[in-house]
Amino acid sequence: MDGVRQAQIEDVPGIVALQSACFPPPFPPTLHWRPEHIGRHLELFPEGQFVAYCNNLVIGSASSLLISDSRWGVHLPWVETTGGFSFASHEPDGEVLFGADISVHPDWRGRGVGRELYRARFEVVRRQRLKRYGTACRLPGWRSWAESRNLSGLSTNQEDYCGLICSGEISDRTLTPLLKYGLRYVGVAHEHMDDDESGNAAAVLEWTP
Ligand SMILES: CC(C)(COP(=O)(O)OP(=O)(O)OC[C@H]1O[C@@H](n2cnc3c(N)ncnc32)[C@H](O)[C@@H]1OP(=O)(O)O)[C@@H](O)C(=O)NCCC(=O)NCCS
Repeated sequence: MDGVRQAQIEDVPGIVALQSACFPPPFPPTLHWRPEHIGRHLELFPEGQFVAYCNNLVIGSASSLLISDSRWGVHLPWVETTGGFSFASHEPDGEVLFGADISVHPDWRGRGVGRELYRARFEVVRRQRLKRYGTACRLPGWRSWAESRNLSGLSTNQEDYCGLICSGEISDRTLTPLLKYGLRYVGVAHEHMDDDESGNAAAVLEWTP
């Protein structure tokens, strides 16, 4: 990796291309960014949009918006927190940096790219003197875990799944890395988005400087 920097309009095709590589089926392709969405994020809040790059190729991206602390505190579904694909709920005076997505190309995973994108996000929180960073994290390993537990008559709820990940007994390919960045597990948001692997749920995570 060469580095992480604020995204530019020239990065839009690379950011869009990452979506299908990073969120393959069964994740619904209707939930992928389209070019006009990224263009809108860059207009609204350029300081919150980052790419990781190597040889001028986009290998990772992270998008964010600002929301009020009261909006953060109620942990609404993704579409209500963000206002949809174009971040209609962005509040320029919001005290919480909300991470709407992060994607690292599969060929680059496990090499610290996600960590660098998170370092850039945390730097925005510090520089803009925000109250916190918050996000809701997919649980892509939940469905297969729940299916195997079900056979043994054990509980399958996402709270138990997240508890086992937080204690390090099992790992999840998305929640485990995010916990390693220093995010704190707050709880589970149910009916967060249309996401079969996660049972439509997400782990609510936050970080304070
Ligand atoms: C989640 C994601 C962003 C992580 O990015 P990454 O660059 O691969 O992660 P990093 O290399 O920064 O890894 C950070 C830590 O997590 C660990 N880790 C990474 N992938 C892991 C996995 N699949 N299982 C367990 N631990 C993992 C790393 O070993 C590293 O640990 P360390 O700090 O002890 O060395 C990336 O896997 C991704 O893009 N996933 C698909 C898209 C997605 O689900 N986005 C999140 C939406 S909520």
